[in-house]
Amino acid sequence: MKTLLHIDASARTNRSLSRELSARFIKEWKTKRPNDCIIRRDVGIKPPPATTEAWIDAAFTDEANRSYEQRQELKLSDLLINELVQSDIIVIGTPMYNYGMPVSLKAWIDQVIRVNKTFSFDLSRGEHPIKPIQSGKTLVILSASGEGGFLSEQQNANDNYLHPHIIKCFELLGVENHHIIAIEYQEFGDARHSKSLEDAHNAVPNLVENLTTYIHDL
Ligand SMILES: Cc1cc2nc3c(=O)[nH]c(=O)nc-3n(C[C@H](O)[C@H](O)[C@H](O)COP(=O)(O)O)c2cc1C
Repeated sequence: MKTLLHIDASARTNRSLSRELSARFIKEWKTKRPNDCIIRRDVGIKPPPATTEAWIDAAFTDEANRSYEQRQELKLSDLLINELVQSDIIVIGTPMYNYGMPVSLKAWIDQVIRVNKTFSFDLSRGEHPIKPIQSGKTLVILSASGEGGFLSEQQNANDNYLHPHIIKCFELLGVENHHIIAIEYQEFGDARHSKSLEDAHNAVPNLVENLTTYIHDL
């Protein structure tokens, strides 16, 4: 049995293209593998709080020395990390907001990238002191944007701070493979958007087919 963590980050609950795509992915997955466990985390509806000085102090205090208040401070982070650690595949439906990720998704990332929980830090490693503690996870990014041409080597790829940022952060969380399906040109509503929408919805079952076929290699 595998565990999927299904995250949605769109602030829109109606008409959200990224939510439709992630729901489609999960539906296709369940058809193929009904016994897998799906953990749901909707940060678009319920964004985690931003990290604070008290949170940082608690996270950087050795576990054995944490006060009751510090342990309370990290309770949500512990819960979110627990959901992530259990998961083999993380499926994220996300919009592009201001060329990057929504603040709700960044808040989730800030809650789960935590020293001695999800990464270790050791200056003896030279220029790369940070190492993920987890490994072998797969990330699926299902995104929607108003403009387009953001994918690699396309005309607006340099303005894409959404996918590279998510991928970099998830490397710290043990992700070793990632896949991106993007709906583009939502704001144009033209033929490019229709094609992008159709291509994305066709790509989802293909990706599910590929991932479930090679599930033992994940
Ligand atoms: C606050 C906000 C900021 C946005 N910023 C961008 C942007 O920088 N680039 C872009 O291409 N689209 C941008 N958009 C358009 C969204 O990415 C687009 O509407 C997408 O479909 C939203 O995802 P959703 O349909 O899942 O809600 C923005 C939309 C909103 C509401």
